Amino acid sequence: MPNISSKLPDIGTTIFSVMSKLAAQHQAVNLSQGFPDFPPKKKLMEAAEEALNGNHHQYALMVGNAKLREQLATKYSKKYTVQIDAEKEITITAGGTQAIFTAIQAVVKPNDEVLLFAPCYDSYSPAVTLAGGKCVYYNMLPPNFKIDWNEVRKLVSDKTKLIIFNSPHNPTGSLLSADDMAQLKSILQHTNALLLSDEVYEHIVFDNEKHYSFLADEELRSRSFVIFSFGKTYHVTGWKIGYCIAPEKLTSEFRKAHQFNVFSVSSFAQEAFANVLDFPEMYHSLSSFYETKRNYFRSLLADSSFEFLPCKGTYFQVASYKNISSKSDIEFCKWLTAEKGVAAIPVSVFYAENNNNVNLVRFCFAKQESTLECAAERLKGL
Ligand SMILES: Cc1ncc(COP(=O)(O)O)c(C=O)c1O
Repeated sequence: MPNISSKLPDIGTTIFSVMSKLAAQHQAVNLSQGFPDFPPKKKLMEAAEEALNGNHHQYALMVGNAKLREQLATKYSKKYTVQIDAEKEITITAGGTQAIFTAIQAVVKPNDEVLLFAPCYDSYSPAVTLAGGKCVYYNMLPPNFKIDWNEVRKLVSDKTKLIIFNSPHNPTGSLLSADDMAQLKSILQHTNALLLSDEVYEHIVFDNEKHYSFLADEELRSRSFVIFSFGKTYHVTGWKIGYCIAPEKLTSEFRKAHQFNVFSVSSFAQEAFANVLDFPEMYHSLSSFYETKRNYFRSLLADSSFEFLPCKGTYFQVASYKNISSKSDIEFCKWLTAEKGVAAIPVSVFYAENNNNVNLVRFCFAKQESTLECAAERLKGL
C-alpha cells in the first residue's frame, strides 16, 4: 500500500454524519442534521411524477434545464428589480454544496486567502484547502453573532481572493443587516476580492425581518457568486439540486469547473422544479410556516433550563446549556443523544479548530409537531 499524504489531514467524517449515526444507534429523536421529517408539497411530487413519466432521463444541458433557468431569471429579476440573464448567469448544480465547492475551485489559487465568518457551514474550509487557498477567520460571538467591521477591515488585504457570507445564517439563525451590507461595500472599495453569498435559506426569515440578497445590489452582485438550494425551499434536501447566479465572467469560470465536476445534474428533478417555479405561493408561506415551528419548539421548552438565543431565520435554534452541564458541547451532544435520546449539533464544530468554548448546541426544528413534542418531553426535565 503506497503512503498517502492526505490533502485534508485535519478532516474526519462530518459531525452531521456522526450525530445522525449516533442518533440511529440510540433511537434518539434526530434534531441534529438539517432536514425536514415531513413530505414535500403535493404539487412538487406530481411534477416529479410527470417528469419521470415523460422524457427526462438522459443528461440535462451542462448549464441546466433551459426552462428552469428562465423561470429563475424571471423570479429574481422581478424580486430584486435587476436583469438576470438565464443563458449567461445561471447554472444548475447538485445542491448548494456543489455550487459552493465549484465556485471556490473556479477562482481560488494556491496561497490565495479566503475570508470566512465563523461559525460557518462546514463545507467552506475543506473546499478552500483543496484549492490550495488559506482560510482566514473572523469569529462571530454569541449571543448576537454581530460583525465588527473595523476588525474585518484588518483581515482584508491584497491576498484576499474571496469572502464568503451566509445569510440567513446556519447555525446561528442571524441575518446580515442593511448596515452590514453598507459596511461591506465600503471595505470592498479598494480591493479585488470576490464574494460568495450562500443564500440557501433565503425564504426562511422571521419576525418581519428582511433578507438582504447580494443579487439586489448591483455593486455587490458584480463580484458575487450567489448560491441557492431547492432542497431547503421545497423540503427535498435529498434531491440535491441548487444553483449559482453570477455575472457572465464569473459564470464562465464557474462552468469551466462545473462541467468537469458533475457535468450536469438530475434531469427529471430539474424538470419538476421548472414546472412548479411559477407557483410562488409554495415559498411565500415558508417563513410563516417555519416561524410557527420555531415558536412552538421554544414554547415547549420555555420551562426548561436551556436558554434560547435569538433566531431570525433558517430552521435552526441555538441554545445554551450552561445551566445544565459543564461538559464541552461535543461531549454534551453525545451524552444528550445516548442518555436522553435527543440528537443535536455542537456549535463549536462550526468554528475553526473547534476551540471556541461556547457551550451552545443547535437544534433543527424542521420537524413535525409530534417530533418536536417527543424531543421536548425528553429535554424538559434537564
Ligand atoms: C449554510 C448552508 N449552505 C449550503 C448548504 C447545502 O445545501 P445543499 O443541501 O443544497 O447542498 C447547507 C445545508 O445544510 C447549509 O446549511
